[in-house]
Amino acid sequence: FAFTPANLDWARAQITKYPEGRQASAVIPLLWRAQEQEGWLTRPAMEEVARMLDMAYIRVLEVATFYFMFQLQPVGSVAHVQVCGTTSCMICGAEDLIGLCREKIAPRPHELSEDGKFSWEEVECLGACSNAPMAQIGKDYYEDLTTESLAHILDEMAAGRVPRPGPQNSRFASEPKSGAT
Ligand code: FES
Repeated sequence: FAFTPANLDWARAQITKYPEGRQASAVIPLLWRAQEQEGWLTRPAMEEVARMLDMAYIRVLEVATFYFMFQLQPVGSVAHVQVCGTTSCMICGAEDLIGLCREKIAPRPHELSEDGKFSWEEVECLGACSNAPMAQIGKDYYEDLTTESLAHILDEMAAGRVPRPGPQNSRFASEPKSGAT
């Protein structure tokens, strides 16, 4: 693994933001940039970040495995779907959303769909409990989901469109709901 020249410049700039001897503080931004470059965090990428920050690889791995934002396996080329399964979402139908992911994407979490476009996993609370159930799809939150609206969102994305993020039941929308897009 090697950062692109532009990403390498960016990574070095991040490291200089921290006092001498504290460069390990840049681990999250560097891991994030490596993931953005590759689509997921490969072991060589984590080893390169460890080398750049003078950290033990295991310390970098500890960080990468702690946060849901880091993916240690390949993810769908269109989106990785993270369905919240914590209490509010669970009470409001997260199990149904997970069932849809099993049917529509892949039977088990972190597996790719047959066309390679999607992957999914269940995650802990993402902080949008008042709009449960919800999922983070790619970088956006889609809230107040139903199996129908989630299926529609995935179909739209598969077709190359970007459905409007946020609540899908128009509770806080400024315009009338017309599906998820
Ligand atoms: Fe699902 Fe908090 S419980 S976002």
